[in-house]
Amino acid sequence: MRILAIETSCDETAGAIIEIAGTETKLLTNVVASQIDVHSKYGGVIPDLAARMHTEALPVVLKEATQDKKITYQAVAVTIGPGLVGSLLIGIAAAKTIAMVKKIPFYAINHLEGHIYSAFLAEEKPELPTLAVIVSGGHTELVLMKRHLHYQLLGQSRDDAAGEAFDKVARLLDLGYPGGPAISELAIHGKEDEYSFPIGLREKDSLEFSFSGLKASVAYTVVKLPKPLAEHTKADLAACFQKTVTDTILRKVATALKKNPEIKSVCLVGGVSANLHLRKNLEEMINEDFKGLSFFVPDLQYCTDNAAMIASAAAHHYLFGQPNRWYDTEADPGLTLN
Ligand code: KG4
Ligand code: ZN
Repeated sequence: MRILAIETSCDETAGAIIEIAGTETKLLTNVVASQIDVHSKYGGVIPDLAARMHTEALPVVLKEATQDKKITYQAVAVTIGPGLVGSLLIGIAAAKTIAMVKKIPFYAINHLEGHIYSAFLAEEKPELPTLAVIVSGGHTELVLMKRHLHYQLLGQSRDDAAGEAFDKVARLLDLGYPGGPAISELAIHGKEDEYSFPIGLREKDSLEFSFSGLKASVAYTVVKLPKPLAEHTKADLAACFQKTVTDTILRKVATALKKNPEIKSVCLVGGVSANLHLRKNLEEMINEDFKGLSFFVPDLQYCTDNAAMIASAAAHHYLFGQPNRWYDTEADPGLTLN
């Protein structure tokens, strides 16, 4: 059994094929066409442009993902939300057409569950219950998954997502879009104790996040500094900002683990999980303070948006759930996990 997965929720056009044998899954192909070079000229994603570029890129991506139709598949899966509506519609239209013409099962996938299942692409799988720490450009969520495809939201951001904070602070420092990779590069050369920024909602028991105060605090600091900012000043700001985001996430994860002692593993997923500082520090905290728990983070290529993660989620829908009726399925830009 093979599933073709399509992801077009934002500014990556992606296709992948996964094979399922028994309960084993194996990724066969994974193709991502990024639009970042185009959007970065404008300092962020331009929705209309993204949708138009998906229509151009998707046929090429699907040709490559199926190795020019040499790899056949028996089901199709697509991201139906959350995301940009114009972008989602392109992938959904393609997937519906494929399901209708080929008369094969159709799987509607939530982009966030795709991120969660990116942690299940490696050979070693997270044991359940797992705590999924979703840190992306649009979302920051702590999700408890006790059984496959069942998601319990423990806490989320009240304002900016972690990735959004990286992107906004990068803009303050003139680092371009997307901000995450630029800030993490620069932070390598910076001092982590030069500036002190606040951890949002730091009350002991809170599992909610807030990053807008942190962003504002960086902005106030920047306003007071002489311009143009020196390179070493930018590096210090980047390092202190990155440390504060990491400390915030570690603190909330520790609280969630203490409140839910049944958790057996932690999965760090979403675009910001590509951040090496965060990966390293969260892993260290879990190994030191939560012995017996295992830590999972996807390969770097599966952190930011891709279709391999959608394929992985679809494989688990095939194993533990049901297909969806393509004619009843709509794009849902504000889709949540439960
Ligand atoms: O998951 P993703 O590709 O898209 C959404 O679902 O939102 O995440 C994109 C986000 C962007 O905000 C980007 O700045 C951030 O992930 N990001 C990073 C890194 N690489 C990407 N943030 C911090 N460090 C990184 N290395
Ligand atoms: Zn994403």
